[in-house]
Amino acid sequence: CGIVGYIGQNDSKEILLRGLEKLEYRGYDSAGIAVVNKNSGVQVFKEKGRIAELREVVDTSVNTTAGIGHTRWATHGVPSKVNAHPHQSSTTRLTIVHNGVIENYSGLKREFLEGVELKSETDTEIVVQVIEKFMKEGLNLEEAFSKTLGILKGSYAIALLDNENPDTIYVAKNKSPLLVGLGEGFNVVASDAMAMLQVTDQFVELMDKEVVFVTREEVVIKNPEGDIIDRAPYTAELDAGDIEKGTYPHYMLKEIDEQPLVIRKIIQKYQDDNGQLVIQPDILNAVDEADRVYIVAAGTSYHAGLLGKQFIEKWAKTPVEVHVASEFSYNMPLLSENPLFIFISQSGETADSRAVLVQVKELGYKTLTITNVPGSTLSREADYTLLLHAGPEIAVASTKAYTAQIAVLSILAAVTAERKGAGLHFDLAQELGIVATAMEALCDQKEEFEYIAREYLSTTRNCFFIGRAVDYYVGLEGSLKLKEISYIQAEGFAGGELKHGTIALIENGTPVIALATQEHVNLSIRGNVKEVVARGANPCIISIKGLEEEDDRFVLPEVHETLTPLVAVVPLQLISYFAALHRGCDVDKPRNLAKSVTVE
Ligand code: G6P
Repeated sequence: CGIVGYIGQNDSKEILLRGLEKLEYRGYDSAGIAVVNKNSGVQVFKEKGRIAELREVVDTSVNTTAGIGHTRWATHGVPSKVNAHPHQSSTTRLTIVHNGVIENYSGLKREFLEGVELKSETDTEIVVQVIEKFMKEGLNLEEAFSKTLGILKGSYAIALLDNENPDTIYVAKNKSPLLVGLGEGFNVVASDAMAMLQVTDQFVELMDKEVVFVTREEVVIKNPEGDIIDRAPYTAELDAGDIEKGTYPHYMLKEIDEQPLVIRKIIQKYQDDNGQLVIQPDILNAVDEADRVYIVAAGTSYHAGLLGKQFIEKWAKTPVEVHVASEFSYNMPLLSENPLFIFISQSGETADSRAVLVQVKELGYKTLTITNVPGSTLSREADYTLLLHAGPEIAVASTKAYTAQIAVLSILAAVTAERKGAGLHFDLAQELGIVATAMEALCDQKEEFEYIAREYLSTTRNCFFIGRAVDYYVGLEGSLKLKEISYIQAEGFAGGELKHGTIALIENGTPVIALATQEHVNLSIRGNVKEVVARGANPCIISIKGLEEEDDRFVLPEVHETLTPLVAVVPLQLISYFAALHRGCDVDKPRNLAKSVTVE
């Protein structure tokens, strides 16, 4: 979910709505704003669906210079107008927006809200009702707010309005991201700086459990002990132009096309003046000293981690385990003596990954975050950060961040190997340059991938991706891309594992996309293709120059054999894009998903 707030001199409705549009990547199943109307107090507008739908119901004649807003990714309670934020207390004196999950909401309800009639099914409404309950018992708002925060368990980013003192927005956070932005005669609140770049680039970080009072003139931050904290703002280094679509019909297509540029930028950012690939010495020490690396990530970033393991083990000779963040604490592996944890996260905000980060920091282990977002929670809280330099990624389906993650992981592994005296026998920077050129050639062949998507995927119910060795991992990512945006049931399998069960699903005409970019498994994967063809499958073989055979549907340009995932994924991204387009799906904002999942 995403939160915005504005208090100043200008029309707050438009600033809030525009801010929410920039936060739609965090969820878009319902949205709402609450604005302070000079004549009649706080007014709430909310709607199920996108911000565009919310716009329709906002009364444009309301005169207002302060308000809060929210775009939701449902956790507690179905997406509906009633469950949309903002929520109000029974007397409507207090209005709240909240991002996160209150784990003890049913206990709070039992203990404090007996007899209180609740309008929604959300944990958020419980919070605002509890604050009001404490006020009824005689506390002022600041006391009631602090007392409530003290008993909440779970994660939250909160902005609260009081109808009787509408000149302040009350703000707090715990484990969920929230920033305050500063302006002349106004101040703002946002889950992400991107939302408020329209009015300011000066932001102040907030720490967990602080309470913040935002007025037109000032921002007062108090720590849990009640002391006022003085914290300098930083300048958000985001280019507003980077977050526009330009002439592209969808962000996803723009971001796929940006990949060659991103790879070149990464080479440049990680090169010293002599053209040598370099990594900050303290990070290098940390990797060098680790007896085992634990990569923790979710979704697409997890898939990049699987490839990172290959680089680090093969080149730097350090053992690596890759873990899905949400499972880590239940299936915590037996840790080595001197582990290094690497968190891979495009957004740097994924709550599942952050939960692991907090846990392993408590255990005293070293942590490195690889992220696209400088200043993000995972970046701030880890010991070290490596940046992806991919520019803002807006489409929910990750593309350029994935290839950037692979490239940065390859550089980290190569430089570590060098440090250990086991340098690569090729020039990685040069080979990554060749990858960028190959990606460009692929992006220039969109008609071909559109054709493949039409041929294989325009009506199918399901689709399988198979590969061996690194192609298996690329297949996992290809299948995730396809299912995320086209809703075709797509699964990726190790070529050799198919016969142990999944082959039962192959019917006449079932599309099977097979990757054949690895010489050492070429014969075996082609054998697997024959197995599925014998059972009626419609095969689409994507091979690479040098390994191509007559029936291959597409042949990738040649790149260094360890870097083939960077090119093999591009056709899969484009095929998924066109399949979604043909099937009439919302490519950039697929149903039920959010780009940045800030709840566990
Ligand atoms: C969400 C997105 C995925 C993404 C995953 C991890 O589920 O929909 O596309 O891969 O989160 O996100 P992160 O920002 O941590 O890479």
